[in-house]
Amino acid sequence: MMGSMTQRFDGHVVVVTGSATGIGEATALRFASEGAAVACLDINVEENEATAEAVKTLGVDAVALACDIRSRSDQEAAFAVVVERWGRIDTLVTSAGVYVGGPLSEISAEHWDDIVAVNLTGVLISNSLASLTMAAQGRGSIVNISSMAGKTSWPESAEYSATKSGVIGITRSAAMELGPSGVTVNAVCPGNTLTAMVRDVAHEVGERLGMTGAEWLEMRAADTAVKRLADPSEIAGVIAFLASDDARYLTGQAIEVDGGIILS
Ligand SMILES: NC(=O)c1ccc[n+]([C@@H]2O[C@H](COP(=O)([O-])OP(=O)(O)OC[C@H]3O[C@@H](n4cnc5c(N)ncnc54)[C@H](O)[C@@H]3O)[C@@H](O)[C@H]2O)c1
Repeated sequence: MMGSMTQRFDGHVVVVTGSATGIGEATALRFASEGAAVACLDINVEENEATAEAVKTLGVDAVALACDIRSRSDQEAAFAVVVERWGRIDTLVTSAGVYVGGPLSEISAEHWDDIVAVNLTGVLISNSLASLTMAAQGRGSIVNISSMAGKTSWPESAEYSATKSGVIGITRSAAMELGPSGVTVNAVCPGNTLTAMVRDVAHEVGERLGMTGAEWLEMRAADTAVKRLADPSEIAGVIAFLASDDARYLTGQAIEVDGGIILS
């Protein structure tokens, strides 16, 4: 890094789940660009190692940890590596998540169990493990990635909406519980953000509505106030703000970062 200018996250240790791609990847790079060391936790080993390498080129320390967040033992092992390496965790960002959609009548037990395991159980375990270290430090911030689907809804999205509303529930309770220990807990609810996930959703939902994925994305963009979809870096910027000193009095919130789509 150049010169001696202090940066917002100098000396911070940030754990990002779902760091291999999309919003998690953009978040890892954003924190690194402002001085933080980053632990990258993802099930997609190859892409996750690429994220950690990209983080290191920004002049900070990084580690890629293969971790299926559905597994408590995987997460315990990953968090143990982080604490062993850096001795602290300043920020946790839970971006690992999956989308499953479809009519109520077609919901399968397998799909339901899996989406709950990743989007809800996985997030709960991450919060639980990070809270141990953060409470002992007397300081920390947790940013859980929910979705606008956690606040509002639309047809054929019951499973996803249920898990993303659940993330807001975890966030609110954790904020109350960890506040006395100096830990803030917030959720970010992104609107449609240009990642691999949204392209899959566009293809699937578009097909059901008789349009192409690209047409569905154009329709979604038209529904926002700003007339475009988000770049992952725009979600990462808000996540970084929530982890910054400027947001120390902000906790228990679920913030829509959706270009105003929820207004339409
Ligand atoms: N893209 C959007 O429009 C959008 C909108 C609202 C909310 N979100 C949420 O943002 C988060 C990130 O999504 P994204 O758009 O960046 O998608 P993405 O698919 O690019 O990223 C999700 C990441 O999670 C990882 N992951 C999935 N299952 C995992 C598991 N069991 N263990 C560990 N890692 C796992 C994937 O490998 C991937 O790297 C998700 O929670 C998603 O629900 C996305």
